Amino acid sequence: MGSETTGNIFVVDDDRFVLESVSTLLDEYGFTVQAFANGHEAVKQFVTRPVDLVLTDINMPHMDGIELLEKIRFLDRETPVVLMTAYADLDTAVKAIQKGAFDFIIKPYSPPYLIHTVEKGVHYKHLTQIEKNYKRELEITVEKRTSELAEALRRLTKMSREIIERLTSAAELRDEDTGLHILRIGLYAKKLATALGMSDTFIEQIHIASAMHDVGKIGIPDSILLKPGALTSAEFETIKQHTVIGEKILQGSAHSMLQMGATIAASHHERWDGSGYPYGLRGEAIPIAGRITMLADQYDALRSERVYKGAFDHATACDIILNGDGRTMPEHFDPHVLATFDEIKDEFAEIFDASQSQEPPSRGVHTRQLPLPLDAQPPVSGRDRPGRNPPSPGLPGSRPPASRGS
Ligand SMILES: [Fe+2]
Repeated sequence: MGSETTGNIFVVDDDRFVLESVSTLLDEYGFTVQAFANGHEAVKQFVTRPVDLVLTDINMPHMDGIELLEKIRFLDRETPVVLMTAYADLDTAVKAIQKGAFDFIIKPYSPPYLIHTVEKGVHYKHLTQIEKNYKRELEITVEKRTSELAEALRRLTKMSREIIERLTSAAELRDEDTGLHILRIGLYAKKLATALGMSDTFIEQIHIASAMHDVGKIGIPDSILLKPGALTSAEFETIKQHTVIGEKILQGSAHSMLQMGATIAASHHERWDGSGYPYGLRGEAIPIAGRITMLADQYDALRSERVYKGAFDHATACDIILNGDGRTMPEHFDPHVLATFDEIKDEFAEIFDASQSQEPPSRGVHTRQLPLPLDAQPPVSGRDRPGRNPPSPGLPGSRPPASRGS
């Protein structure tokens, strides 16, 4: 005799004759049989080895078949339990089915029916095992694919940011010695946005988007942008156009990062009191991303050395922003942004100081390199950076505006 179905079977019966005859029968059909005279021993062994089906008598001393069923169900919900019972226990057998028994066999048993029932149960166990393995493999595959997708997205995001930084630098490097200014602006803006309680998405976006604030400089002729002397009024009007040029370059994108970049490019010279440009927007009509970037840009311009002025130290720059000096005035800034700056201004100094160690070894146009992101560097105090910006045009006073096009 033989069977195509094989499996590990636990047979439990206190009747030695039944135990031996059932075990022998199953063995002849190719099953691996483990025989137990009581339920306790069967439970003990159940947790130590793989079992495909438990075939148990109902009426046994100490632990009956129903209790054994319940214990096995507690340990494993998938292994089929087949109960053997006499006619008199039929009601009990039906209740056992309701409790999760796979099937029951009436004693005295019919060998073909017993084999058929055991094969059916083992087949069921194998199918549930296959399904379980399939689900697990599916989960592993999904986890792997999700991880790969996240990594690809992370790389894409990193590459997008690097492209933005490098393209922005293409405009910035024309009148800045290094690309450090734009990197610092991103860090200041991120600090301010965080302290203002903006959303994580906003903070992440303004960190990158604020660096694009002056991308419109690419449309300003060198003869004006790099002019060493004072600008005429007409030339200054041209300089102002870097805001709307930047907006045109960046607007219309489906990506929110670039949309914010367009907003910042257009609004980073607007002033809270309406005296800014290009649109003369006032108060909350100026997008918050522009109000944040405007303050960050002002601080960095004040800290940076120009041919027409020295670099102000942190305390002086803060005093000019917070109290005004006749040109830069507190009413230019969103009061809430200004108050937040006042709270975290020392962190601005840390960002500026850390960037001083980032200068490329040579400032020649052809040897310039993009600096590493500032937030990847340890804060190091350093020397001032020489600048080349000419003074602003036709504006009286001891100090020209901190920046004419930054
Ligand atoms: Fe600007």
